[in-house]
Amino acid sequence: MRILVAVATRHGATREIAESIATAAGAALTDAGMWSQIEVRDASLVSSVDGFDAVVFGSAVYMGRWLEPAAKFAEAFEEELRRVPVWVFSSGPVGERDHPADEPAGAADVVLRLGARGHRLFGGRIDRHSLHFAERAMVAALRVADGDYRDWPSIRAWGREIGLSLAKAEVAGSAS
Ligand SMILES: Cc1cc2nc3c(=O)[nH]c(=O)nc-3n(C[C@H](O)[C@H](O)[C@H](O)COP(=O)(O)O)c2cc1C
Repeated sequence: MRILVAVATRHGATREIAESIATAAGAALTDAGMWSQIEVRDASLVSSVDGFDAVVFGSAVYMGRWLEPAAKFAEAFEEELRRVPVWVFSSGPVGERDHPADEPAGAADVVLRLGARGHRLFGGRIDRHSLHFAERAMVAALRVADGDYRDWPSIRAWGREIGLSLAKAEVAGSAS
């Protein structure tokens, strides 16, 4: 089974999430006795989704929105993505919050249009040293502190869930 994990990132934190999801999904498929090849690619570099049996795609969130390559990826391959199992994730919220973070604008609509199996929002990472000047000014104005809010156990568990769900579908498909 071939799986594509397409990711839109500006500073690399979301790519590391994509890689962790890919590893966990692959391990779950291996545990179920299934062969898998999982490719993590930048969404902006994907020219075709043909040949993949499932797709996971995700984006960092900036100013309440996905990065452009993620939105473009969903739009460009909408027809093909509707034919395979798709999972979507976003990563952004940083800092301690006492209320649930908002979903990025337009994400719910894309999830619906693609018939995606789910959308997960994971915490992100802020490291001032890697930000551009304007970004640094913005996080300073919003008083956001540096920190890594990515919840690795949840990320790995979600990747594993995806692998297990694909393994179950494969078994059910070959039995019918
Ligand atoms: C200028 C700026 C704006 C941001 N805006 C949001 C936002 O609106 N919502 C959110 O959840 N996270 C926001 N974030 C946090 C990022 O999504 C987070 O740092 C993420 O991990 C970045 O991922 P990347 O390294 O893959 O680009 C913002 C970060 C910066 C630097």
